[in-house]
Amino acid sequence: MTDKPKVILITGASTGIGFETALLLAKEGHRVYATMRDPSKGDTLKQEATQRNVSLEIISLDVQNESSINECVAQIVDREKTMDILINNAGAGFIRTMEQATMEEIQQVMDVNFYGVIRCTKAVLPFMRKQQSGHIINISSVGGLVGQPVNEIYCAAKFALEGLTESIASYMKPYFGINVSLVEPGGVVTEFGNSLTRYFEETGGIKEDAYKPLIQTYMDYRATFTDEVKERAFQKPVQIAEVILKCINDPDPKLRYLTSEGAATFTKLKSGLDPDGEGIKAQVRKGILNK
Ligand SMILES: NC(=O)c1ccc[n+]([C@@H]2O[C@H](COP(=O)([O-])OP(=O)(O)OC[C@H]3O[C@@H](n4cnc5c(N)ncnc54)[C@H](OP(=O)(O)O)[C@@H]3O)[C@@H](O)[C@H]2O)c1
Repeated sequence: MTDKPKVILITGASTGIGFETALLLAKEGHRVYATMRDPSKGDTLKQEATQRNVSLEIISLDVQNESSINECVAQIVDREKTMDILINNAGAGFIRTMEQATMEEIQQVMDVNFYGVIRCTKAVLPFMRKQQSGHIINISSVGGLVGQPVNEIYCAAKFALEGLTESIASYMKPYFGINVSLVEPGGVVTEFGNSLTRYFEETGGIKEDAYKPLIQTYMDYRATFTDEVKERAFQKPVQIAEVILKCINDPDPKLRYLTSEGAATFTKLKSGLDPDGEGIKAQVRKGILNK
């Protein structure tokens, strides 16, 4: 239990990582605003919070809708007079190759995973800058460091998120007192995989086109992720919530938090020299800002 409760806004709290993070941070005594685009999905979270004897607020927020974000942030700041932590967690996967995907699908993936983060971050920054403190935590992925076949659109969105976050981390702390971090999980057992598979099947599954052998090979690879394999090799959402808590409690928050040994191994050729990103952050700060 913390002796310094923080006001925390988390996006995409209806299921998975956002759901467990909201509960864990509330249990720690923080003032948690668990947001979701469809608050009617919040009943399970409410019930779970009651069962665990913790309190949190559920507010409607669609990361694709700027006015819903601004209304939510205004409501929280009006009540709390502060905004301490934003956890940009809402996100969705997508499988199909770039050539197969329609421009609408590509824009949708970028909108949820990347522009959604920009919208939410822009909404809280004026308050955090004014109070000269805050922490933006962006839930990325190993897919933000390593490009993977058939996942190229999702990886591109997470690479964009990584580039944005690494860039703003260089100046947010020295100029405005705001910490900026990335949390990078590998496989986590949530609705994420089910949702993307459902969408893939609903939109025709494996099609008779030039990519059929590639897609078939990729889907065969996905089929090896049985419940037993996931139990052994994937993380549980509460484990990601624990990493997020660690990131919040870190007196000097790092740029990057890889959430498991598996995530570190998978990204090692990219992240091995500087796993927490503090080396690159210091180099850029010193080289460009002389800070
Ligand atoms: N699961 C993994 O293997 C994995 C690995 C690495 C990174 N991640 C990242 O972890 C984050 C959380 O994913 P998860 O695994 O917890 O998956 P999840 O259980 O599918 O949760 C995703 C959340 O995002 C929400 N969301 C989607 N579109 C939204 C929108 N327009 N506005 C607001 N919320 C929206 C979903 O809401 P609805 O219920 O309304 O759809 C849901 O609450 C994502 O950023 C994901 O990319 C996941």
